Amino acid sequence: MNFINIIEKKRDKGKLSGEEIRDFIKRYTAGEIPDYQVSALLMAIYLNGCDEEETFELTKAMALSGDILDLSSIPGIKVDKHSTGGVGDKVTLIAAPVAAACGIPIAKMSGRGLGFTGGTLDKLESIPGLTVSLTEEEFKSQVRDTGYALIGQTRDLAPADKLLYALRDVTGTVGSIPLIASSIMSKKVAAGSDAIVLEVTYGTGAFMRDEESACELARIMMEIGRQAELKMSAVITDMNEPLGHAIGNSLEVIEAIEALKGNAAEDVAEVMEVILPEMIIAGGKAEDKKEAWELALDAVESGRALEVFRRMIKAQHGDPRVTDDYSLFPKAGTVLKVRADRSGYLSVKDCAGIGECLKILGGGRVTKEQEIDLSVGLEMRKKNGERVSEGDCLLEIYAGSGKDAEAARDKYLASVSINDNKPEKHRLIYRLND
Ligand code: URA
Repeated sequence: MNFINIIEKKRDKGKLSGEEIRDFIKRYTAGEIPDYQVSALLMAIYLNGCDEEETFELTKAMALSGDILDLSSIPGIKVDKHSTGGVGDKVTLIAAPVAAACGIPIAKMSGRGLGFTGGTLDKLESIPGLTVSLTEEEFKSQVRDTGYALIGQTRDLAPADKLLYALRDVTGTVGSIPLIASSIMSKKVAAGSDAIVLEVTYGTGAFMRDEESACELARIMMEIGRQAELKMSAVITDMNEPLGHAIGNSLEVIEAIEALKGNAAEDVAEVMEVILPEMIIAGGKAEDKKEAWELALDAVESGRALEVFRRMIKAQHGDPRVTDDYSLFPKAGTVLKVRADRSGYLSVKDCAGIGECLKILGGGRVTKEQEIDLSVGLEMRKKNGERVSEGDCLLEIYAGSGKDAEAARDKYLASVSINDNKPEKHRLIYRLND
């Protein structure tokens, strides 16, 4: 098949056949098509889109480009939860052990942070000693024994996505609904769970800037999942301001541990109240949302959720004492408090801008290979819409140096404003179809 014909077809708004898509993915994964040609096709897809059939074929071809994990030796319905990413998003860190404590096997494969979004793997690696590199057998036997294991994406899982994602990242083609949907769902299909709860974020700190695009992305991903015979549900969450108070790897794990102790920030608790029932119902442990939420609350209040988290840490060679002694986490030495220069209402104008502060501090990635500093971060002392008085502390910055802290402060101040009027509160979360 001549690849130029495929590029031209998409350039001219044509529909690619399943055979053309499979041929493209197979040959690109084998290194037989140069990046410059694939870049042209990605841009044509970005500009002209794909219909549902093409998106499904693309997902299937990408999932089949590598291994498909077989989790059938683990009893029970395996439920995965995936977020399209955000700033301060520690939902997976909390939801996974709570769901596991409700009896749902959680075999979680997570990614690293890139750009303004954080990644669950990086966050967990701030726990001294903890490794996310387990063999497939270790991974499965840990899920069987402790109910919960979390690893990085293996090299053999959806390798076509790995190549395409890296290319999209440098060709301005990340923000395309068919490309995002196929990228995420190819990995979900290959990761072997039976049910997926999607959290699709929208806003200034998300890939999808508005609710309509987030709903469209969620709808397409659910359709792909259903065609692959997965049980699917989706929740749309607002990412116009960072979630919770902490942004940064060790700081977010501490905030997640506090949530597992029953002390979740208000907005984090609100997201949990929607995500956890979806996971618990999908896992067959409750019939309705009320019953599911009661199970989740009991898992937290009884201390079982925290115990599952401790067992996971221990099984993955980390130090479980961190759950009681936060001084065991790496914490940066320079602390800068940012204060309000006037009274009024705090308004977050640019959530991604606040996420960028972490990059400035060295705690977020610019390139996939970059080493990051797990000890740096931000603690937001005031949230969007809160009334502040002149001199109040808005933010604490934990940095490796005074210079980094000042650069992060400038970026933060450019991302927020203090106004006389209270900013409009976004609708934080809802189920798709609600
Ligand atoms: N996350 C992914 O895995 N892929 C995308 O394209 C976007 C977010």
